[in-house]
Amino acid sequence: MATRQLSRSAADFLPARKTLTALTRAAHDCQGCDLYQRATQTVFGAGSAKARMILVGEQPGDQEDLQGKPFVGPAGRLLDEALRAAGIDRADVYLTNAVKHFKWTPRGKRRLHAKPGSREIAACRPWLSAEIEVIGPDVIVCLGATAAQSLLGPSFRITRQRGELLESPLAHWMLATYHPSAVLRAPDEDRRHRMRDELFADLSVAAKSLSNRL
Ligand code: URA
Ligand code: SF4
Repeated sequence: MATRQLSRSAADFLPARKTLTALTRAAHDCQGCDLYQRATQTVFGAGSAKARMILVGEQPGDQEDLQGKPFVGPAGRLLDEALRAAGIDRADVYLTNAVKHFKWTPRGKRRLHAKPGSREIAACRPWLSAEIEVIGPDVIVCLGATAAQSLLGPSFRITRQRGELLESPLAHWMLATYHPSAVLRAPDEDRRHRMRDELFADLSVAAKSLSNRL
């Protein structure tokens, strides 16, 4: 029935006891929206339960869907580089996505990334909220518009407030920057370089927000 469809979400699948292990296991069976039907598996967040920084992407890509881990494809490689440049060890952060299943459309033999809609982002939000609650990070970095939409609301604009440390009830600081895939997809070389520099600089700001709290 329509009302049931509207209220369907990951909330129905959350475990009573919230630990990263319990959440990861429960998310494996999530049917909170239709995306589980065509994806290989749930790609839950990964990283340290003691992380002081959580980075939130959009959704798993083709490689992540196959391997079951976030940010292991081309976007992950650029993210690794940006983290290294900012002096952040990947082992010290927690990486996750606003949406935990790969949304795609067929194009010949390839699976083309499709942007998750606001219904899917909202349906998946309980997982992200639970991850944030369990970890209790000092800073949350939203990579791209989908993560920003989930955590900062639909009126937030990366183009206007990119790289600013924002106060948030979810963490001491929140910051939004480009998604690494957006950098890789930049329309020309100049723009790609500029976006890359800005992404790197924004992650340094996020890293400094942590050292200022030591
Ligand atoms: N893009 C994302 O947003 N997340 C991933 O895990 C991989 C690519
Ligand atoms: Fe559940 Fe999120 Fe997957 Fe939808 S995308 S089925 S809400 S884990």
